[in-house]
Amino acid sequence: MLYPQTNAMRTKISLDGFWKFAPDYHNTGEEKQWYKGIPHDREIGVPASWNEQFQDLMYFFETGWYEKEIEVPKIVEGETIYLRFGSVHYLAKVWVNGEYVGEHEGAHLPFEFDVTNVIRCGQKNIITVAVDARLKADRLPPGQVQHEMIVGFKGQYPENNYDFFPYAGIHRPVMLYTVSSTHIKDMIIQTSTEDHKGIVDYTIFLNQAFNGEIKVTLDGEVYENIVVNNTDTICGQWIVSEPRLWSMEDPYLYTLAACLTQEGTTIDYYELKIGIRTIEIKDCKLLLNGKEIFLRGFGMHEDFPVIGKGMNHAVITKDFNLLKWMGANSIRTSHYPYSEEFLHYADAHGILVIGETPFVGFVKSHYTNPTIKEKVKKVIQEMITRDRNHPSIIAWSLANEGDTFVPEAEPFYKGMYDYAKSIDDTRPFTITNCIDVEEDVALQYFDFISINRYYGWYDQVGRLDMGCELLDKKLDRCYEIFKKPIIVTEFGADAMAGLHMDPAEEFSEEYQAEMVERQYNIIFSKPYTIGAHIWAFADFKTSQTPSRVVLNRKGLFTRERQPKLAAHKMKENWSK
Ligand code: GCU
Repeated sequence: MLYPQTNAMRTKISLDGFWKFAPDYHNTGEEKQWYKGIPHDREIGVPASWNEQFQDLMYFFETGWYEKEIEVPKIVEGETIYLRFGSVHYLAKVWVNGEYVGEHEGAHLPFEFDVTNVIRCGQKNIITVAVDARLKADRLPPGQVQHEMIVGFKGQYPENNYDFFPYAGIHRPVMLYTVSSTHIKDMIIQTSTEDHKGIVDYTIFLNQAFNGEIKVTLDGEVYENIVVNNTDTICGQWIVSEPRLWSMEDPYLYTLAACLTQEGTTIDYYELKIGIRTIEIKDCKLLLNGKEIFLRGFGMHEDFPVIGKGMNHAVITKDFNLLKWMGANSIRTSHYPYSEEFLHYADAHGILVIGETPFVGFVKSHYTNPTIKEKVKKVIQEMITRDRNHPSIIAWSLANEGDTFVPEAEPFYKGMYDYAKSIDDTRPFTITNCIDVEEDVALQYFDFISINRYYGWYDQVGRLDMGCELLDKKLDRCYEIFKKPIIVTEFGADAMAGLHMDPAEEFSEEYQAEMVERQYNIIFSKPYTIGAHIWAFADFKTSQTPSRVVLNRKGLFTRERQPKLAAHKMKENWSK
């Protein structure tokens, strides 16, 4: 799915800003026909979660109704007009001028509707969105799975099955964009290299069959004039001699431009930034452009005060600035796909990304539920088709910490692996494990092993030596079992910023700093490890539970992005 852009042939109109808002406490707004005009009692900022914008919405998990009046310029009359949402948590129903245009289930990924026939050009229009944020066991990520709650999350409020706050609302940009009636619908770019040449395999999808030409340029250099004969799919390959490969040190992006013409008239135009690079696992190493790399970085969250999970360019900038300041080279989008804006920034600044699905905390009842299996396939398909052209995405994590010890998990995750691989066979796949690998029935099907371990924190409490010793032994055992590369995708400790203890004790900055540094060094010392991601980059909000002091405090930075002692220690460690 292409990210909308304004150019000679396309117009993009942002609908971000203040929207009217009405809480629908009993989820009856649709039968009361609120799409004809909502009984708003406030205005609210978009994009952002609604939870932290008003005290009475912090724990509001029913349906929130949004409404915005917009002017659409006359000049776009005759164009095809799409209404696009970057992410709405959780289930969105959309009306334009009181007419239903469609719905989408699932947050973290974009969706759009063709509104050409309902938008009135040169006049005022009303956009209405009903956002159902109820926590349910069959939603991804899952709400309460009462009878099978993982002990750690049992009884937390609100009752969700994962360790982050279930923010709700219109989380990412909303826009109208226009294209000609025949236009470029999507592009798939796959890059490889062969004896100093770059190879770009491309597929260009049009929205309908077309007769004409597509002129393709790479950094302005004409690569091909493709004659299109009554088809909607065009495939081909370019060879780039002496390519400037995309890397962490030099994240060079070529500008691939596709121009649709008919008898000399330009019909559509789209520019895609692409990176020529290769990623592969070979001899138990992770190779970027044929060179071994070690993934140093973090698990993160999209989480910031007041905006909650809302996309904010300044927060993205700050986070990447701090990743670079630390000397990190990679992150995992724990535990859901991050914004397109985040990934564009990663492409441009050379940070490697493990893209993760929102399948966190799955239990047995998920593995045996056909509805879940269908939803899982839909989300994988949406995530990969949205993100596959990003050079920064070097691998996919298809789940975080499910109950991978129950027999039903084996066919479930193997099926997931096979389905995802059938869509993208250019990147390695993993899932993250948190149980003893001796009992894991799913990891064996994946290309590399990801484990989350808290030796010396949840277990061996307060005994760092014991925790480090155990980590060392367990890593070797894990490799002995799987003989595949291993990344420790989570390790770390909570630290209350400003709390200092000597000797170091749990929740002190000293304990976190010592634990993270010693365990990082152990992981890095192993010949079969390909990465170590500290949990977590910054403190983040969770549901209320006795083990969380409002936030999960495992961040090396506070929620406001101020460094704790561990950040300084790891910056120094990574600079060596
Ligand atoms: C788990 C989980 C994280 C959670 C972390 C913790 O491994 O993947 O989402 O925040 O542990 O307990 O801090």
